[in-house]
Parts: sequence; structure tokens; C-alpha cells
Amino acid sequence: MNILFATSEIAPWVKTGGLGDVAAALPPALRRAGMDVRVLVPFYPALAAAFPDAPIVAELPATAGAFPGAALRSATAPDGTPLLLLDCMACYTRSGNPYLGSDGRDWHDNAVRFGLLSYVAALLASTASPLAWQTDVLHCHDWQTALAPVYLRYVLKARAKSVLTIHNLAFQGLFGAHSLRELGLPPQAWSMEGVEYYGHLSFLKGGLQHADHITTVSPTYAREIQTDTDGMGLAGLLRYRSHVLTGILNGIDTEQWDPSTDPHLPVHYKASSLARKDDLKSTLQQTLGLAVTNDRPLFGVVSRLSGQKGLDLLLACADELIALPAQLVVLGSGDAALENAFRELALRHPGQVAVKIGFDEGLAHLIEAGIDAFIMPSRFEPCGLNQMYSLRYGTPPIVRATGGLADTVIDADDKSLGNGFVFSRAEPAELLATLRRAADLWSRSRLWRQLQKNGMAADHSWDQPAQTYVNLYRAL
Ligand code: ADP
Ligand code: GLC
Repeated sequence: MNILFATSEIAPWVKTGGLGDVAAALPPALRRAGMDVRVLVPFYPALAAAFPDAPIVAELPATAGAFPGAALRSATAPDGTPLLLLDCMACYTRSGNPYLGSDGRDWHDNAVRFGLLSYVAALLASTASPLAWQTDVLHCHDWQTALAPVYLRYVLKARAKSVLTIHNLAFQGLFGAHSLRELGLPPQAWSMEGVEYYGHLSFLKGGLQHADHITTVSPTYAREIQTDTDGMGLAGLLRYRSHVLTGILNGIDTEQWDPSTDPHLPVHYKASSLARKDDLKSTLQQTLGLAVTNDRPLFGVVSRLSGQKGLDLLLACADELIALPAQLVVLGSGDAALENAFRELALRHPGQVAVKIGFDEGLAHLIEAGIDAFIMPSRFEPCGLNQMYSLRYGTPPIVRATGGLADTVIDADDKSLGNGFVFSRAEPAELLATLRRAADLWSRSRLWRQLQKNGMAADHSWDQPAQTYVNLYRAL
């Protein structure tokens, strides 16, 4: 089958979070399962630099709405995945974050930028496609491409079935009513069955209405988003479409994230040589200016700093955590108030807390390997990748039981049957009690080893999830 994968991010070139990782790793896994997958992604500067000679395979004259003219270029990723690069200088030739300007605000023309991406995805899945290659299924991701099923419903004639994957319901692509016209949508799309959402135009709502199938990235999140508490205003619609809604747990890229070969690590290890992890702990401590010692556990965080991730809970009990005693390293960026609070925490605990504000792929790998346990107290988490990286790196994750965290982490008990630590209520006291439990178990090294090995033994590769997607495509 031919599958068109439409995404606004793809690692390593453009990544703000897990979507970029998924868009880089799922298509090759689908290809290994026999699918002919092509990935449609904007020709951002990072991709233009990586593929300067990508030839034009189709010109896309300005047609619908306020879309400028564009072109499709083709290239092949190093892993062999064919890319279709949407070249539109006015929309995508901007440096930095794909969604925000340097002032931290959304680009003012995001409706048109991602409307165009959605429109072109729909065009390639329609009877009007300019390419000889025809897709059987169009697979969209998040609000940025969620308008594609809407175009296939109101503007173009569908040739393919559509799947929309929700990676995060918190981002819905809401714009003013005037966007309807600039997006080239007809007046009948402004309705309850269309894109209208409490007086706004919602990309995600429109996509959820019209996609032939909806998936989200873990079974637990699929249930949670159908409840009024966690449905972020879309629970009713998701319940209405529950017969076509499935939760498929993400995998991880087991080549990029492999402690026995990881090029970001000076020392490599596997389950049978976990003692070498101690060397990485001291490398990490040295790198970050922490006291070099193995007399206390080193906890770590790699995360977007946003309300979703529950790191305010960690801030609220961090002084007590350090007093256990324990050390803490945090790598993250995002919300300015959280960035400042973590900077202050580091100043209060020199040698015991290290905070790096920024996005640093190499350091993220060293942290996963060098820390003893990973903290992820998310308020909600559609899937979460870092807890799976942690499991693979022999670094037990400490998580709140939500979304994909609940589906991947099993609480350790005295017999050490689990692979990490789980708590339920989003309260600092509960997190602290769980951190204390982890620190206690860490000091019982035989049990801790078993916990690490339990995590490392599981298969979190994309093989199984990719097969589940293939079955879904076939069923459609
Ligand atoms: P989300 O997509 O909600 O941010 P995920 O756990 O699915 O959460 O994916 C986050 C991805 O982004 C992981 O690959 C993680 O390592 C990476 N990441 C997040 N923040 C940083 C950072 N500051 N530096 C490096 N990598 C980061
Ligand atoms: C989102 C979610 C995260 C998930 C990722 C990839 O950004 O916040 O939980 O792992 O998408 O699906």
C-alpha cells in the first residue's frame, strides 16, 4: 500500500518534541513492514540545508484561499525514506521554531502556513493529485495537518482514506472566523459538522469530524480524552466518534537510543555491563559541575518546560529531595517562569542541582545514561517518549499514572517486579514520597539492578506498533 505521512516536524532537522521523533521513526518502520511511505513536510531552512539539490517534482500554483504558490521537491532521508518537501518561501523560510517567532509568540500567519500544508496533503490524496504516485491512505498528525480531511470533504474529491493521529489534544489550531476565507473553505464548512468551534475556526476539530479514522498515541490517553475532565473541550466529539478511535502506543527509535552504541556516550553498556553506567554518572557530574560522588542518587529531567509536564510539583519538593540526600539535573526550555524557577533552584544548591536551559540532543542522551532515575510527573501525557528511553537506558522512570506513562511504567514493589515508580495524584507530597521510595531502593543495589534489567528487557521498538498501523490501513 502507498501511505502519505503528513507532518509539521521531522527529526533530526525540525523537532520541538515527540512528534518530530515519531515522524522520523515510524515511516521507516512502516517501510520495513512493506508499505511505500512518503513523508510530506515543509521545506524549512534546516531541510533546505540538508537537501540543497532536491529537485522539483510538481509546481503548485496559487489556487485556494490566500495560499501563495508553492512547489513540491523530492529527497531521500539517510535511512531511505522518501521525502516530499513543500517549498513555499513565504510560509516556511524562517529560522528557529516552526510555530513561534523569536518573541515566543505564534507566527501571525500560522493558519495559512499549516492550512497550506494540510491542503497539499489533501491534494496528494485526491483525484487532482499532480503526482503519478497515488496514495491509498493519508496519515495526518496533530492540528497542523488536521485540516486535510476537511479539504477532502468540502473542496477536493478524495481518492484515499484518511487517518488523523492526536499527539497532543492541548494544541488545537484555533483561529479567528475570518480564516475560513483565507483557507479557501466554503461557507458550509462553518458549521457544527465542520470547523466551527465556539465561534472560532479549529483545525483539530474539523479533522476529528472528517478523518476516516482517529488514533492517539496510547490506549490510556484514548480513554482519557473521552472524559469531560481530560477531553479539553473535545470529549463529546471524541465520544461520538469513539467507534473509529484507537489508542496505539508509540515506539521509540531503538537505533538512535541504544546505550550499547550511542555516539553521544563516551562509554557504552548493556544489561550485562550496567556497572559501566557509573562512569557515565561521573562524566555527567563533571560536565555539569555537580559534586562527583556515588553516595547519593542522581535524578534527572529532560523536558519541554510547560504546565503539561507537572514540573511545578518537582519544584515544590526539590529542596526536600536534595536533602534526602540526592542530586538533580534538569535540561529543558519553554515557559519563562519555570526556566527561572529552575535556575534559582540550581543557585540554591551548588554542586547538587544542575540546570541547563536550552535544547541539546547530545546532552539529553548523556543524561538518560548518566542519571540513576528519570522524573516525569506529567499532569497529562499522551504517550511520552522519555520514559521509554529511560527504560532502555537502565534508568528507572518515576512517573505519574497518566496516558502513555500509565501504559509503560510498572511500579516497583518489594519483590522488584516493576520497572519504575508510579504515583497517582498530582501533588508535591505524593511525588516526594515516590522519590524517597526510589532513593531507598537505589541504596539496595541488588534490587535496583533487577529493576534496571526489567526495564531494559522490554521491547519498545516500532515493530509492533507499525504492524498495528498496517492492520489499520488495510482495514480502511
Ligand atoms: P513532548 O512531545 O510532549 O515534548 P515526548 O516525551 O514525547 O514529549 O518527547 C519529547 C522529546 O523531545 C524527547 O525526544 C526528548 O528527549 C526531547 N526533548 C525535550 N526537551 C529537550 C531538550 N531541552 N533538549 C533535548 N531534547 C529534548
Ligand atoms: C506529544 C505528546 C507526547 C507524545 C508525543 C509523540 O508531543 O505530548 O506525550 O509522546 O506527542 O506522540
